[in-house]
Amino acid sequence: MKTSPETHVPLTGFPVYTASEMQARAAAFHDTMSSRRSVRQFSDKPVDRAVIEACIRTAARAPSGANHQPWFFACVGSAQKKREIRLAAEAEERAFYSGKAGEDWLEALAPIGTDADKPYMETAPWLICIFAQRRGGVQAGEDRKNYYIHESVGIATGLLIAACQMAGLATLVHTPNPMAFLNGICGRPETEKPFLILVAGHPADGAVVPKHALIKKPLEAIASWL
Ligand SMILES: Cc1cc2nc3c(=O)[nH]c(=O)nc-3n(C[C@H](O)[C@H](O)[C@H](O)COP(=O)(O)O)c2cc1C
Repeated sequence: MKTSPETHVPLTGFPVYTASEMQARAAAFHDTMSSRRSVRQFSDKPVDRAVIEACIRTAARAPSGANHQPWFFACVGSAQKKREIRLAAEAEERAFYSGKAGEDWLEALAPIGTDADKPYMETAPWLICIFAQRRGGVQAGEDRKNYYIHESVGIATGLLIAACQMAGLATLVHTPNPMAFLNGICGRPETEKPFLILVAGHPADGAVVPKHALIKKPLEAIASWL
């Protein structure tokens, strides 16, 4: 690796914990994330924009290909825009559920119980529409090719979901298929591809989740130690 005082600075501020502190912190974070559920019944209780801003700042600390940070978060809180997004999403979803998805996909989704109706898109206080930028660069306004775009935006989205959970916000990843309508509604250029919509807010009283979603693979099935 090539380093020099002109191009590199000392690593500072990195936390140091004892082995038992590390275990406790890892376990505490696991506890927090264990209560995350995809929620599809939201209350209309407002959530301060400052909370969403802090969560997006966290998402933006994600690693990214060549540090180009190829993401954009259009945070939709206005009732009118949320309605536009709901109507456009439901139109796509009606086609999806009435056959476009294919039998296998619909069969895989059946235990979750989803259908084309998405009332939560208007009820929840925030729809965070995440875009993946095909072009950009490390400085805002640059127009260079971006690399590992989906990996980078996926990691940022994971951090965003974790940040929301830490803040006490319920979330839902929603992916109407296709979702090109989001560019027009959110005023984003064609060089950006809608990645997903993260619905965020408080769960409705009496909200339920599918039993199917509670099935999580054990560690032995998802990790090996070599
Ligand atoms: C890429 C992706 C797309 C998803 N799309 C939808 C969606 O369009 N609608 C929906 O209700 N849930 C969607 N989900 C949520 C999954 O159904 C959910 O994560 C899964 O059932 C597990 O439940 P859990 O998140 O509560 O653990 C999506 C999740 C991911 C990661």
